[in-house]
Amino acid sequence: MILLKKASDLQKWLSEYRRGWQKSVGFVPTMGALHQGHLALVQRSMQENELTCCSIYVNPTQFNDADDLANYPRPLESDIRLLAEVGCQLLFLPDDEEIYPTGKQHLHQYPLYPLDQVLEGACRPGHFQGVANVVDRLLHLVQPDVLYLGQKDFQQVKVIERLLTYRNYQVRLVMCPTVRDLGGLALSSRNVRLSAEQRQLATQIWKELTWIENYGLNYPLQEVRSQVIRRLNALPETKVDYLECCLADRFIPIDQWPKGEKVVWVTAVTIGGVRLLDNVLMAT
Ligand code: PAJ
Repeated sequence: MILLKKASDLQKWLSEYRRGWQKSVGFVPTMGALHQGHLALVQRSMQENELTCCSIYVNPTQFNDADDLANYPRPLESDIRLLAEVGCQLLFLPDDEEIYPTGKQHLHQYPLYPLDQVLEGACRPGHFQGVANVVDRLLHLVQPDVLYLGQKDFQQVKVIERLLTYRNYQVRLVMCPTVRDLGGLALSSRNVRLSAEQRQLATQIWKELTWIENYGLNYPLQEVRSQVIRRLNALPETKVDYLECCLADRFIPIDQWPKGEKVVWVTAVTIGGVRLLDNVLMAT
């Protein structure tokens, strides 16, 4: 695996690689602390492209809590080993200067409204602007043909879709299914902060979402929502930040079941101080 840290080296290497050939490049942006969820994106990209580039960069501008940024796990050596083991060909490992050459205070403001104002955006002001800034910079440098993102961060997928349209990137976006542990908990770099008991509690999130998927349509939407919030909040150390049903396409929250639409139930639940995201897509 080739490891590059400078934006200019990356651009040079990729233009050499592409010279005279129509080789497709798949790109998987990450913040490291890699688990099977990330590796599934890398593997999918490797199946579908001649070259797979992964990036690891803990982007400070998308953290709205200094402690969260400081405590974000950074097991770089094992990340590099995992990527090499699955056969990823190129790893981009920039520092702040490569991503924000003119400084982090000059952030671009993207027209993300209302995506950046609702749900995850409302809980984390500025978060999605930070995501849009870093992904825009990375896409500009890598110029991939295909971009691989996880369904686990569904709202992020919607934000990046908007970015691709706004910037007119000719990039195909592939949203990959959420990878879960045996209990159903969505894999996340933050799961390491859960105790064994909290991890057990956290499996209720997916259980409730699958209950909605299987039985939700039998009840009014608002009743489903309040029932599930009540059950999750009744668990020890557990607080639902939000649970909403949105039209999957436009990501607009709704309060009644629509007919013949694809919807997504999105939730953020804090267990013992650890914030966990999950969602389920369903047809009505
Ligand atoms: P990070 O949280 O490291 O996630 C990188 C990618 O892996 C995202 O597309 C995310 O949705 C996906 N992912 C995480 N857990 C997953 C799981 N259990 N199953 C499937 N996919 C999963 O998301 C970010 O980093 C950052 O915001 C980033 C896009 C890199 C910009 O900084």
